[in-house]
Amino acid sequence: MASEAATAQSNPVKRPPPKKKKERILGLPPDRLSDDHIWTRRDFFSLTGWAMFLGSLSVGGIGFLRFMFPRVLFEPDPTFKAGFPNEYPPGTVSEKYIPSQRVWIANLPEEGGLVAISAICTHLGCTPRWLASEEKYKCPCHGSGFTKEGINFEGPAPRPLERWKIGLAEDGQILIDKSKKYLSEKGEWGKPGSYLPV
Ligand code: FES
Repeated sequence: MASEAATAQSNPVKRPPPKKKKERILGLPPDRLSDDHIWTRRDFFSLTGWAMFLGSLSVGGIGFLRFMFPRVLFEPDPTFKAGFPNEYPPGTVSEKYIPSQRVWIANLPEEGGLVAISAICTHLGCTPRWLASEEKYKCPCHGSGFTKEGINFEGPAPRPLERWKIGLAEDGQILIDKSKKYLSEKGEWGKPGSYLPV
């Protein structure tokens, strides 16, 4: 017994050193632990503060850009020139500007001169066709028919075709303005601007 006690005294049991606090928390081996891998509370609040600052900065930046470049819908110019009045003989209907403008230009002496007739059917908006042999506009969608002047006389169209403002530009060409319309049902077809005397 005495010899065993002496042996135990000469060879004390080696206990592992107590784990450091960080090691206990992360459960990582000591060689993988360093201060670089630990976020202190101070780091956390610092990063959170930066994130909030940068976030508010970017939101403010977006707001500033939207202020500088507002969403504006750029409409095409509603006016266009349509050549000179002598290009439209009395009694004729020109389809020259149907593809680009959906407008007939008709020289109707009984209406006072040149008129710009909208080629938008007043039923549901299809484009009628000018049938020269029958002297009428005929809508292919539901069969509405309009006289040469644009008065509805058959089919479901509830009212006459509309007319656009027509006048002369400084260079003597016909100037049509599709931002201003004239409606027969409001008695506007005889008003200045609804026709161009020739
Ligand atoms: S859209 Fe022209 S008749 Fe219906």
